[in-house]
Amino acid sequence: MTPPTPPWCPLWRPMQPQDVPRVNAIADRVHQAFPEGPHVVRERLALFPPGCRVADSPSGVIGYAVAHPWGLLPPLLDSSLVALPEQAECLYLHDIALLPETRGARLGEALVRYLQDLARQIAAPRLALTAVYDTPRYWSRFGFTPYRTPAIAEKLASYSATATFMVLELG
Ligand SMILES: CC(C)(COP(=O)(O)OP(=O)(O)OC[C@H]1O[C@@H](n2cnc3c(N)ncnc32)[C@H](O)[C@@H]1OP(=O)(O)O)[C@@H](O)C(=O)NCCC(=O)NCCS
Repeated sequence: MTPPTPPWCPLWRPMQPQDVPRVNAIADRVHQAFPEGPHVVRERLALFPPGCRVADSPSGVIGYAVAHPWGLLPPLLDSSLVALPEQAECLYLHDIALLPETRGARLGEALVRYLQDLARQIAAPRLALTAVYDTPRYWSRFGFTPYRTPAIAEKLASYSATATFMVLELG
């Protein structure tokens, strides 16, 4: 069934430091199974502002996405990065979360297009992410495929037994 088109059109815009409390409130609501401290978004925004976006609507911020240059190993859940690699092996999508009532407007698709352009700008050869819940099928729509090594499996243990590290190679 096609979801109803909202009467407004949410748009991604750059995240600002003053958005962070709202972003963390959305994270607490959407990701109850994967709690992270407020330091996580704040640090990534400070380290790599172009990777941090919020979905805005007339009623305020209704979603967010956080991405940063990284290697081919997912950071542990709720961890600080400290510094970014000089040469990124990937642009890593740490998280995207939309409030349930705002899904269906294909914000995820718009974000993936944005991240592909951003990855090319920073000479990262691929996008990567850790798919949780039932989202591997969602990410495979865009061409993401699972990527497994023993070291990745060890890192993923901090997420969940079914978390899947996925990559999208950029041509
Ligand atoms: C995943 C998420 C960002 C996608 O939101 P969205 O951009 O609004 O996606 P849409 O609702 O427009 O869906 C687009 C299509 O993907 C499908 N889809 C959405 N979520 C899906 C999922 N979890 N698994 C499989 N398909 C999914 C939709 O059915 C729709 O299919 P259609 O083209 O056949 O109509 C959003 O559902 C969300 O924030 N979920 C909770 C947090 C989360 O899971 N984040 C990702 C963690 S890795």
